[in-house]
Amino acid sequence: MKTYLFANWKMYLDLQESLDFANKIKEKEIPENIEMAIFVNPLSFSGVSSILADTKIELGAQNTFWIDKGGYTGAVSAHMYKKAGAKYALVGHSERRHVFGETNEEVKKQLDVCLETDLVPVLCVGEPLKEREAGKTDEYIEIQLRSALENVKWPKGKQLIIAYEPVWAISASGTGLICSPVDAEVVLEKIKEVVKNFLGEIDLVLLYGGSARSDNVQGFLKMENINGVLVGGASSKPETWQELVDKAV
Ligand code: PGA
Repeated sequence: MKTYLFANWKMYLDLQESLDFANKIKEKEIPENIEMAIFVNPLSFSGVSSILADTKIELGAQNTFWIDKGGYTGAVSAHMYKKAGAKYALVGHSERRHVFGETNEEVKKQLDVCLETDLVPVLCVGEPLKEREAGKTDEYIEIQLRSALENVKWPKGKQLIIAYEPVWAISASGTGLICSPVDAEVVLEKIKEVVKNFLGEIDLVLLYGGSARSDNVQGFLKMENINGVLVGGASSKPETWQELVDKAV
């Protein structure tokens, strides 16, 4: 399996910064064993997409709306992202859930529309600190997975990517806490089991996200159930991203 290096630019970069970043990385050679994607804000999406058109770097949406078109001020649909060249879409990122109040029901609609539009979903799950401290991590994540995946008829050959992102370990959460590779592995092992119960054997890719950086990425990638990383803060500057990529390849 390839190693997945996914850069979630969040709202770190404005239009010009995004274009400059894309211009910097477009010359870099991407080894065969790496699948790289950048999750760009809607404002910068088409500009970045044009710059990276002839490269192996894929594009993804940070957030999508499930209705194709209509009177939905401020929304950008999954269909529109697909037409504009996105391969991936983040679904239920913790900042969407906890800052913008996205519910499990809305996350499910976003996952379903990825199946319709042929986007590869990157379903994000992870527990807040309170649940971790109360020993309820597995329970919390199982509810997130159940509401997204139960009774879904998974299309044959369709890939599902799940990113385990403990809310408390995401750099923007400001806790300064880091999840160890071993702790991440334990949860991902469990996630794999739960997904298998709901969907059977499918093309499943497992990522870790939460303060992944050049100095810890190798530790995560060594784990059996970690196929790659979803990176926020360290992906927001060309230098820190390149350092991480160099360590990961
Ligand atoms: P971080 O973000 O690398 O800044 O912790 C990861 C994410 O939220 O996707």
